[in-house]
Amino acid sequence: NNKTIVLAVETSCDETAAAVIQNGNEILSNIVASQIESHKRFGGVVPEIASRHHVEEITIVIEEAMQQANVSFDDLTAIAVTEGPGLVGALLVGVNAAKALAFAHGIPLVGVHHIAGHIYANRLLTEMKFPLISLVVSGGHTEIVLMREHGSFEVIGETRDDAAGEAYDKVARTLNLPYPGGPHIDRLAHEGEPTIDLPRAWLEEGTYDFSFSGLKSAVINTLHNAEQRGEAIEPADMAASFQQSVIDVLVAKTVKAAEEYQVKQVLLAGGVAANKGLRRELEKAFASFEEMELIIPPLSLCTDNAAMIGAAGTVLYQKGKRSNYAMNANPGLDI
Ligand code: KG4
Ligand code: ZN
Repeated sequence: NNKTIVLAVETSCDETAAAVIQNGNEILSNIVASQIESHKRFGGVVPEIASRHHVEEITIVIEEAMQQANVSFDDLTAIAVTEGPGLVGALLVGVNAAKALAFAHGIPLVGVHHIAGHIYANRLLTEMKFPLISLVVSGGHTEIVLMREHGSFEVIGETRDDAAGEAYDKVARTLNLPYPGGPHIDRLAHEGEPTIDLPRAWLEEGTYDFSFSGLKSAVINTLHNAEQRGEAIEPADMAASFQQSVIDVLVAKTVKAAEEYQVKQVLLAGGVAANKGLRRELEKAFASFEEMELIIPPLSLCTDNAAMIGAAGTVLYQKGKRSNYAMNANPGLDI
């Protein structure tokens, strides 16, 4: 048969995930086993705990993905797996599982960059039109990526310190919100007003780079100073103000890059793409650009999953990429 059927595996952080993708954009199955409950009490992902959970879950999750898709290993065109970036001990579990299955069944193996996966989540919704830019905002990444064709990625701007999601998680912690903090700040922000004056790091003229550590420090200092003066700051107002600062910069730089590169599409990607405020403001900003299409994946495809790795892996496979059995996990992999 001439269908392209790819089994995809993703274990870069704290989700053990497997999916089966047909012809690059049809989700036959998409299984995610989240470990959030195990890491919550530590206020962040504990790498060794993550690795151990992946080892326990990986075979079960892959079996479930194959069963739900109703395919056998003989049906598979390729096996795609996240090779980096991420936590090395976590990545190794997925890489080894994928290698073992590829070897046992004689199936081509394709290593996928995690961020390429986040971007290709969008192809599960609609065909990509080039040139495009993608705003990638996750716990580990904040980047504007320019794509002129399938499988080609140019990073035109990136964070110089904290990732947007990291800033969300750190600010959430100072507000005593549970991990991961992004969704909690998002919810709280809608109950408050952005009345607190916080900085926006535009950086030097013309750059698409970002910086969020100053904003995070400003939040901490403002809360600390208020406490010293015996004043109360409404957490919802702080959440709203912080969120507004992040969104203002993300949206303005994305609009500027979209105009400069005359793109046909703007794709939102990564866990922070689940943010309601960011989604709304991007929609508002791009409403007037009729020639540009703004694509925003549903929440379940924004946070870590294997369907996105399957979508990216299919394109890489079709472009001829093959990984050998010496493929290693690469925590610092460049896109
Ligand atoms: O892409 P992802 O699932 O994992 C990484 O590759 O990092 O992103 C997780 C990040 C966390 O920092 C989390 O707080 C953030 O995405 N996040 C959000 C929201 N939902 C998840 N940040 C802001 N608003 C949200 N609604
Ligand atoms: Zn991610």
